[in-house]
Amino acid sequence: MNFVRAGVIGHPIHHSKSPMIHNHWIKVYGLNGEYTAIDIAPQDLKGGVQKLITDGFLGFNVTIPHKETIMEICDDIDDTAQKIGAVNTVKIENGKMKGFNTDAFGFIANIKSQIPNFDFGAGKIIVLGAGGAARAVLYGLLQEGAADIIVTNRTMEKAQMLCKLSPNIKPVPWDEKEKYLKDATLLVNTTALGMVGKEPLILDLKNLPPTCLVNDIVYAPLMTDLLTAAKARGNPIVTGIGMLLHQARPAFEKWFGILPEVEAELLSKVLK
Ligand code: ATR
Repeated sequence: MNFVRAGVIGHPIHHSKSPMIHNHWIKVYGLNGEYTAIDIAPQDLKGGVQKLITDGFLGFNVTIPHKETIMEICDDIDDTAQKIGAVNTVKIENGKMKGFNTDAFGFIANIKSQIPNFDFGAGKIIVLGAGGAARAVLYGLLQEGAADIIVTNRTMEKAQMLCKLSPNIKPVPWDEKEKYLKDATLLVNTTALGMVGKEPLILDLKNLPPTCLVNDIVYAPLMTDLLTAAKARGNPIVTGIGMLLHQARPAFEKWFGILPEVEAELLSKVLK
């Protein structure tokens, strides 16, 4: 079997968990290959990526700060990545680069893996944040039939921009978010708040129905203050680590032709 190569590009990149995830699957599925982390500074993006093509890479993941700029040098971009406005996965074929975005898939697959019959179309969904992650989350929610979504963000203009994705999304001011928790069936934090080293997310959950599912896409720490508070009052919760694991699956499939599973062993490895 030919030696197969893929990787992740970013700057910085040493904290990435992607090599651990993909090398785990390379081993589990008996492939002869390697997935490596490659640090490429913004000014070197074009040359750095060209080297991967020359070196015979089958493709690569893309992370901060290249998720948007890579779009300018892709030869083709699939519809989902176009709509999300960012590429996190590139497949190289005959020297050409095609861009994809698997974040929306990862977000939805994570929730479905924990709550298989969750109905995204059943009620009001609150999304905290309006950055790149929020855009992928919203795209995923709309694909699943979400009809009533509220986006709240510190910078209101960014929430308003995201509402252009669909008339089903409504922006509300950050200072008023608590009032909208009433009737929610799903609450998702897509902001960086609550992440290790970042400011805490201050949110009073008293208006939140006890049946509302709470998901944080922050996974360091795994149990964020939001999830801890939600769990303590009896709400169902889904942690964020599964989004990272599930977004990796279709990328692996595009390069290596196998859709891998998120098994318990992989989960315990990434949580170490
Ligand atoms: P990502 O691509 O991971 O979503 P991002 O585009 O930088 O990253 O978005 C970060 C999100 O966290 C944004 O919604 C941001 O709010 P602003 O659009 O107002 O910047 C939110 N965020 C970061 N720090 C925040 C803070 N201290 N208070 C409220 N929201 C914050």
